[in-house]
Amino acid sequence: MSSYRAMGVTGGRCRVNLLITLFLMCVCIATAAATVAGAGYAKYRDPRQPLSRRIDDLLGRMTLAEKIGQMSQIEQANATADVIKKYFIGSVVSGAGSVPAVKAPPETWAKMVNGMQRAALSTRLGVPILFGIDAVHGAGNVYNATIFPHNVGLGCTRDPKLAKEIGAAIALEVRATGFQYAFAPCAAVCRDPRWGRCYESFSEDPEVVQGMVAAVISGLQGDIPGGQRKVAACALHFVGDGGTMDGDNQNSTFHELLRIHMPPYYSAVRQGVSTVMVSFTSWHGVKMHANHFLLTEFLKTRLQFKGFVISDWEGIDRITTPAHADYLLSIKLAIMAGIDMVMIPYTYTEFIDGLTKLVQNGHIPMSRIDDAVRRILRVKLTMGLFESPYGLAGELGKKEHRELAREAVRRSLVLLKNGKAGDKPLLPLPKNAKGSILVAGSHADDLGSQCGGWTVTWQGVAGNNLTTGTTILGGIRQAVQGHGTDVLYYEKPDAGFMRRNKARFDYAVVVVGEPPYAEAFGDSLNLTIPPPGPSLISDVCGSVRCVVVLVAGRPLFVEPFLDAVDALVAAWLPGTEGQGVSDVLFGDYGFTGKLARTWFRRVEQLPMNVGDEHYDPLFPFGFGLDTQPLKT
Ligand SMILES: *[C@@H]1O[C@H](CO)[C@@H](O)[C@H](O)[C@H]1NC(C)=O
Ligand SMILES: *[C@@H]1O[C@H](CO)[C@@H](O)[C@H](O)[C@H]1NC(C)=O
Ligand SMILES: *[C@@H]1O[C@H](CO)[C@@H](O)[C@H](O)[C@H]1NC(C)=O
Ligand SMILES: *[C@@H]1O[C@H](CO)[C@@H](O)[C@H](O)[C@H]1NC(C)=O
Ligand SMILES: *[C@@H]1O[C@H](CO)[C@@H](O)[C@H](O)[C@H]1NC(C)=O
Repeated sequence: MSSYRAMGVTGGRCRVNLLITLFLMCVCIATAAATVAGAGYAKYRDPRQPLSRRIDDLLGRMTLAEKIGQMSQIEQANATADVIKKYFIGSVVSGAGSVPAVKAPPETWAKMVNGMQRAALSTRLGVPILFGIDAVHGAGNVYNATIFPHNVGLGCTRDPKLAKEIGAAIALEVRATGFQYAFAPCAAVCRDPRWGRCYESFSEDPEVVQGMVAAVISGLQGDIPGGQRKVAACALHFVGDGGTMDGDNQNSTFHELLRIHMPPYYSAVRQGVSTVMVSFTSWHGVKMHANHFLLTEFLKTRLQFKGFVISDWEGIDRITTPAHADYLLSIKLAIMAGIDMVMIPYTYTEFIDGLTKLVQNGHIPMSRIDDAVRRILRVKLTMGLFESPYGLAGELGKKEHRELAREAVRRSLVLLKNGKAGDKPLLPLPKNAKGSILVAGSHADDLGSQCGGWTVTWQGVAGNNLTTGTTILGGIRQAVQGHGTDVLYYEKPDAGFMRRNKARFDYAVVVVGEPPYAEAFGDSLNLTIPPPGPSLISDVCGSVRCVVVLVAGRPLFVEPFLDAVDALVAAWLPGTEGQGVSDVLFGDYGFTGKLARTWFRRVEQLPMNVGDEHYDPLFPFGFGLDTQPLKT
């Protein structure tokens, strides 16, 4: 707009001077052209300019309000076009379970995001919004997305190449909604399975986590970050979230911070991760959200992390106890500690007013604001957001991604037992049973429990109404189809039923495990299989040969019934592609997964990790029986 007006004014001045020579006219036209360039051409918009020059140019044009807008990440529920334009909002988050409509198709997501993006692009400088979403095992918030196995299962594959392919698929599914920033991968080293976020961790072993984290980042971002098929990644949660006392969510890290919890961040930074999210935990009594030493001196200066640091959801509020007790203090401590973007997400007027006041009063120097904005702009420019701010259609839940997820399920399964002492192995199961086979248990036909937390909603929901996919029962039915085998499914056959009917069954598949959960709600001190799992196992396995498949985010207390079962499989939280389980049970593929966590005997042993002096596990780290695929 302003460039057209400049041209008109200059042209008018030209027309007044009628006696001008051709030479002078040329000079005048050249001047007009230069004026146009001055107003219309902006270095920061020119992808041929070097990155640092684009950042300097844009930063140099920004007002304090525009800078603070870049540092603000607000909830999508608050992100109306008016709010975006008024506050120059730099980032929008879709919180877990925050969706534009129930079962919204990707087009509805993209429409919402594109509307917000248009508002941002219409502002004076037109800096595009970075849209962030949880994606720890797929585009988890989105109905009909491909849900991959949670990281606890992927760690058992020990396969960074597979993890990279999964990262690349997740990037496409996230882009299909218009979002371009994934809160993944989780870089936690879970040292105690009583922590309800343990399933988000690849392993108790930092080295395994390092390899998988780097691979997922390269899949999400590309080896050279940028482009419409890639997203910005986020290593989380910095640092020590997996090392709290008794696995208490958000408590203090007491294990060795540098030796155990820091190494994944070395790998993430080396891989060029765009962002790092701060942990809710504390270290030596200091909340990570206020920890200048670890965020600024260690991560930014020592490790030379060049991306931006983002707070967790209302994370700065919790610097004080109770939360949000002194928000101005929280803002000051967080920004001065080195947080660059704040996931506010709701109290954005209070945040923006507070930060503005702190800068105007000299409590936060402009140099700190400029550093934060520089880092944010670097990520946006590197990603190519200015050139392609919109999403990508046709990538959500597509067949290739579901096949990749099914492969990941197959590779993540760990076979813990196969055959009682002196007996022949039960697995692989024959597809052509002589009679019927029994499938039983609360988790046999339950997609929501297979997916676990961070699926469509925050804590996840049991049942088959949450999203689309195939249950383990569905996979079993497909596997034996055409082999003359009847599959009978009873969720809770009791001892009487088993006595009356056991002659009908060649064998049984019992699928039990944990209900869905996520942070805080998943903290558990006993790690028992919820009822009626244990009695179901004894009723069924006491009558017919049985394989027990555990659907759970962590090792559970299984020692008491281990002798009663013929075979035991840890399926973790496999996600939407349940056929991955039946593929291996029936021998189309062999078991290859190896434990990435120690399987304890009794909870009193915890924490107990590989390398500990007193190490007496039920199944050690690295354990897993192999089977050969059946020749067909
Ligand atoms: C943001 O949205 C939430 C949820 O709809 C609402 O409760 C809150 O008041 C909004 N915040 C502001 C500052 O308008
Ligand atoms: C950790 O948990 C203990 C016991 O519940 C509590 O007293 C303490 O305040 C917690 N520490 C932090 C940093 O939250
Ligand atoms: C889910 O996604 C697939 C692949 O994009 C599509 O064919 C199917 O119609 C979708 N299903 C639902 C219920 O939205
Ligand atoms: C399934 O979800 C739809 C909306 O998504 C809801 O109307 C329906 O009541 C749900 N059914 C069950 C059994 O929860
Ligand atoms: C085990 O812990 C869970 C979660 O804390 C609780 O709901 C359950 O009742 C406990 N079970 C037993 C047997 O104590």
